[in-house]
Amino acid sequence: MQEILEQLEQRREQARLGGGLRRIDAQHAKGKLTARERLEVLLDDGSFEEYDMYKTHRCSDFGMADTVIPGDGVVTGWGTINGRPVYVFSQDFTVLGGSLSETHAEKICKVMDLAVQNGAPVIGLNDSGGARIQEGVASLGGYAEVFYRNVQASGVVPQISVIMGPCAGGAVYSPAMTDFIYMVKDSSYMFVTGPDVVKTVTNEIVTAEELGGAVTHTKKSSVADGAFENDLEALLEIRRLFDFLPLSFREKPPVLPTSDDPERIEMALDTIVPDNANKPYDMHEVITKVADEGEFFEVQQAHAGNILCGFIRLNGSTVGVVANQPMVLAGCLDIDSSKKAGRFVRFCDAFNIPLLTLVDVPGFLPGVGQEYGGIIKHGAKLLFAYAEATVPKVTVITRKAYGGAYDVMASKHIRADVNYAWPSAQIAVMGAKGATEILYRSELGDPEKIAQRTKDYEDRFANPFIAAQRGFIDDVIMPHSTRRRVVRAFEALKTKKQSLPEKRHNNIPI
Ligand code: HXC
Repeated sequence: MQEILEQLEQRREQARLGGGLRRIDAQHAKGKLTARERLEVLLDDGSFEEYDMYKTHRCSDFGMADTVIPGDGVVTGWGTINGRPVYVFSQDFTVLGGSLSETHAEKICKVMDLAVQNGAPVIGLNDSGGARIQEGVASLGGYAEVFYRNVQASGVVPQISVIMGPCAGGAVYSPAMTDFIYMVKDSSYMFVTGPDVVKTVTNEIVTAEELGGAVTHTKKSSVADGAFENDLEALLEIRRLFDFLPLSFREKPPVLPTSDDPERIEMALDTIVPDNANKPYDMHEVITKVADEGEFFEVQQAHAGNILCGFIRLNGSTVGVVANQPMVLAGCLDIDSSKKAGRFVRFCDAFNIPLLTLVDVPGFLPGVGQEYGGIIKHGAKLLFAYAEATVPKVTVITRKAYGGAYDVMASKHIRADVNYAWPSAQIAVMGAKGATEILYRSELGDPEKIAQRTKDYEDRFANPFIAAQRGFIDDVIMPHSTRRRVVRAFEALKTKKQSLPEKRHNNIPI
């Protein structure tokens, strides 16, 4: 018996070595952790249960019969993060570049199926050269099996992808269908076709970093939701994100004990809005002053800075925040910000995360570029997402709520549950200057008259009370009591039930 036990230990040792010491050293030399080291950081100590450690590929073409490595380039199983279960796969770049074979795909599919069945999220640590070239269509089929499961699991359990190496071809499409994609700066890339193919086909000369590095995907393309300095930071931040999320759509997000008083008053909020309506202020400050312990997990921080999206906790419970940011483009809604926030709202709604919307929006960004780019359809994404969301929705207008953007930003009319305004709120079809220039065009030559007209318009609309008279605003609140008021609003909405008309599914303007 002792001998059999020793043999098992030897087999385990061999599997743990992956592609061998030389390649492990090469991985470390690039500043990267190995697939197993990554799981050790991501999961609670000693919680990892590995499956399919001995699984091998079945390919014999191109000399593959001589390159059989147990585990076949991916480490799979489940573990816990702060005590809550999660299914994981971690691709091993030391084994044939983490490339995806038919059996490698089967291992990923197994944990995805279990995750959906048992109602626990999936986190994929991606480090793969794409389809295993030696296997041809078998590996393409393997990818499609994973893709299919990504779609089936969407909205059932949260799916998170971390890109931790060069991911090409099929290796980027599975992450693309998950809820969040995070990258590691300088060591991860994502592209459908790499720089060499790009050069051959389009004659464009570009580096891997420029084509698909973390800066490209967090700033320009918005494919990635964020990027971290190194593997360690990335994995620790994913643990932090995980703590905000429910295990599945059947559950509510976890409630974390907090010592932050839900009744906390923040006097600084009374003076945060400048007297001059054209002066910006940082909406981050409002968010962190309202949130438990000032903690805000922001997503897509580097993209479309005119809108802020992310998670906070209020009295221990997760809340998704969407907030216009007056510091960037005066907080206007444009194509990028509508897409960013629309997707975030839908994620929150899919997973029972209530929504807090902070409004300071002067309207949609005008311009030929915006119109040609399809702002009508992209702006509609955010409108659609808010209107279909049935999770509790609380809105606070801090300053401007102009035009169509007023309607879009979780207004009462599209079924926000509780709508508050600060006394500094201005709810109107447009700014006073623009309005008078249209209404009194014939008087434009007389600056004094126009100034009076502008003042009249401001006196009428540059306040929240017209909207409050109609019940579009439930109460005008003291800025310093915002935390207390929104905490109480969400408490009252805990038992909210709302259903949508029967249908197969909606047709959001994608
Ligand atoms: C088999 C692969 C591989 C692959 C890398 N390797 N990619 N083996 N299939 N797709 C192997 C290499 O042969 C090498 O083996 C080891 O992994 C490390 O690769 P290197 O090239 O030495 O590493 P590096 O210089 O860091 O470059 C990494 C890389 C590059 C950028 C990922 O390997 C690369 O470009 N690979 C091919 C990417 C690709 O075109 N994939 C197919 C995409 S098509 P040894 O034995 O030397 O260690 C696709 C179709 C699916 O995915 C589409 C579905 C929609």
